[in-house]
Amino acid sequence: MPILNRAAEMQDEVAGWRQHLHQTPELNFDVFKTAAFVTEKLEEFGCDDVVTGLGKTGVVGIIRGRQGEGPTIGLRADMDALPLKEITGKPYASTVPGKMHACGHDGHTAMLLGAAKYLAETRNFAGSVAVIFQPAEEGGGGGNEMVKDGMMDRFDIAKVFGMHNMPGLPVGQFAIRSGPIMAATAEFTITVRGKGGHAAMPHGTIDPIVIASQLVGALQTIASRSTDPVEAVVVSVTKFHAGDAYNIIPESAEIAGTVRTLKKEVAKKSEERIRAICAGLGTAYGATIEVDYDANYPVTFNHADETVFASDVAADVAGDAQVHRAIQPVMGGEDFSYMLEARPGAFIFIGNGETAGLHNPAYDFNDEAIPHGMSYWVKLAETALAA
Ligand code: NI
Repeated sequence: MPILNRAAEMQDEVAGWRQHLHQTPELNFDVFKTAAFVTEKLEEFGCDDVVTGLGKTGVVGIIRGRQGEGPTIGLRADMDALPLKEITGKPYASTVPGKMHACGHDGHTAMLLGAAKYLAETRNFAGSVAVIFQPAEEGGGGGNEMVKDGMMDRFDIAKVFGMHNMPGLPVGQFAIRSGPIMAATAEFTITVRGKGGHAAMPHGTIDPIVIASQLVGALQTIASRSTDPVEAVVVSVTKFHAGDAYNIIPESAEIAGTVRTLKKEVAKKSEERIRAICAGLGTAYGATIEVDYDANYPVTFNHADETVFASDVAADVAGDAQVHRAIQPVMGGEDFSYMLEARPGAFIFIGNGETAGLHNPAYDFNDEAIPHGMSYWVKLAETALAA
């Protein structure tokens, strides 16, 4: 079965919703207008139940099939945008200064709304579909908040599926893998406290800039010397703040960054090494080095059976040659991981074509992907819940 005819017919309508959402980006949990738009649409489609305020501003719509009893399958989209100044020049560009949909969550929300409309019209399945719209994917852990709010038990969700667009992957293609597909994330802030003084008399100081500079280099040995070369780990220092005069050695320096891993052991080892390197360098130079370490999103782990199932559904929609079933993991983080910790399921990438990359100010979701994404959702629900 290729793209559904009805999904192709609905492309302009869904693209209209997408472009409307694109004009009014909102951040983190503050997705009030977006959630209101989603709620209004779900009610208009005739969902059996529409629940708002889950995980602060998340929305869930329940659609019951007309073929009898069965389990509930969760389909999830994210609603939040990013703090970026848009440079696409599109007629529907962001109208909110400093905010834009640069990760395509406008497209994810619109495609799932399109699927919800279709499924509410046809209801050719047994059991129920829960369409899940979450806030705060970009760092706030909105998916985690919805799970903590009891979403899975409240709607008796048996399995859960997620989708994200991927620039560079041609439109009409899908990509997935079993096991870890996206990384666990952690953030660290390291404060080096030395002893400030005159820049011309360094021997009377403990220079935190020299120590922090060595630290930046030493942290790179975690990936190169402390972990198995075939295990993925990224340690990136992304902030370095110290001093504000030409002739003063400051009292302290601060560096910060992120750690990405695919396995719990490697995540643990990385944190241990960061703490040990900081303690050792502090002792060596007579400085105090404080480490503030926050383990963030867990690994997005695709369950084996559900990955095969999702791959087969994608192949049914797109053709087998258009589905990459064993891609390399992506070292970005994704808070759909919390839903996959709560229930079996799988997360898939959908081609966005040759667009600018995610989180780039020139990025725009590709509306040509809409019928493919919508068809995937519909087919997934109808297959998982076949009577
Ligand atoms: Ni995203």
